[in-house]
Amino acid sequence: MTKTAAEVAEEGVPSAPVRDNSFRQSRPSVVGPDAPEPPFPIVLTGVVQRGFGRGGKDLGCPTANLPDESISPMSSVTQPGVYYGYAQVSREKDGKAVLPEEDGQVFPMVMSLGWNPFYKNQKLTAEIHIMHDFKSDFYGHEMKAIVLGYIRPELDYVSREALIEDIETDKRVALSSLARPAYERFKEDPLFKTSAHPRL
Ligand SMILES: Cc1cc2nc3c(=O)[nH]c(=O)nc-3n(C[C@H](O)[C@H](O)[C@H](O)COP(=O)(O)O)c2cc1C
Repeated sequence: MTKTAAEVAEEGVPSAPVRDNSFRQSRPSVVGPDAPEPPFPIVLTGVVQRGFGRGGKDLGCPTANLPDESISPMSSVTQPGVYYGYAQVSREKDGKAVLPEEDGQVFPMVMSLGWNPFYKNQKLTAEIHIMHDFKSDFYGHEMKAIVLGYIRPELDYVSREALIEDIETDKRVALSSLARPAYERFKEDPLFKTSAHPRL
């Protein structure tokens, strides 16, 4: 049986396979069944934390990190890797709406759950890249996400360019995979209609 991220974590930081060209050439454009199947959908909520900041600077792909306690619904049922779904950031911080209205919508997202072997992290993290051009950062804002499917395992990379290329493919795969009716309807999920601090 495949190990969950929590079981893998207990054994220490795992070594990830190095991505090679045959992996890239064989990547499908749509992943997963026609409708989400258990353990999905998985709901994650938490206040956005600062990561190492490399996502935006190094990779052109800013990511919002969730606190450790927020990722337990993922780590108990799934393996490290790249996932897709929808996410929404609260416009409010400290009770005031500071982000423009358009930034508070529900957007497609890709999430990396793992140790980022390329950067040799020592801690399991969940980093969500929301596919929207935010005009400012949103550290300290509440974020809600619904994870709907798995894209690929976490890999190690021989170069930053190869990682960037795969992240770009992940985004395309996520968008095509979410464009199916049974996935698209999660954009309207009641989770995204509740106030900034839902009681789950
Ligand atoms: C969609 C996506 C896929 C990723 N896949 C991998 C991967 O396979 N291997 C890896 O080492 N890091 C992967 N990363 C993680 C990046 O290395 C990570 O976002 C980067 O370390 C930035 O983190 P920071 O902002 O906390 O510095 C992925 C990130 C995203 C958004």
